[in-house]
Amino acid sequence: MLKFCQKGFTIIYTFIHTIHIFSVFIYGGFLFVDVLFLSKMNQTLSSEEHAKAREAIMMHVRKVVPYALMVAVASGLFLFSQVFGKIEDGSLSYFQILLAIKAFFGLWLGLRGINQKLFKINPWVFKSHFFPFSLVVIIILLSQFMYL
Ligand code: HEM
Repeated sequence: MLKFCQKGFTIIYTFIHTIHIFSVFIYGGFLFVDVLFLSKMNQTLSSEEHAKAREAIMMHVRKVVPYALMVAVASGLFLFSQVFGKIEDGSLSYFQILLAIKAFFGLWLGLRGINQKLFKINPWVFKSHFFPFSLVVIIILLSQFMYL
């Protein structure tokens, strides 16, 4: 019975972990494309053409990317609750420190996104997509180095 439960839990964990990776792929993927490529459109298009071309993309982005971020945060919180572990001898381990920093940045992005999408509160600082793009790069690095 215990073996079956452990198997069941591993399947649930793996399923949520996969959802986390897909949602991060969609959210982070948009930021990479926007910062590395779409931001260059104004070098060849007039400001009017640029605004039109960008809106033609953003009208679809707004239907998906903010929700992918919310799914990334929700799935991340579940994963965190399962892998963070106990704090031994009153101090955090190397894994816990890096995961906590990663979770803090992820939750910051989540809060920003939810404020913007659900409450129409735009960020007060770092308004461009370069800020979340930089945080996603740092989060991806942390997610790999935390297992060193
Ligand atoms: C937009 C924000 C986020 C991004 C871009 C992101 C990105 C990632 C990436 C790339 C991985 C590694 C996947 C792998 O190598 O298997 C990962 C794993 C993980 N993330 Fe996130 N994440 C985000 C938000 C969060 C949040 C808010 C939390 C917790 C509160 C969280 C908790 C975790 C945990 C615990 C893992 C490890 C899962 C495992 O290795 O089993 N993530 N995340």
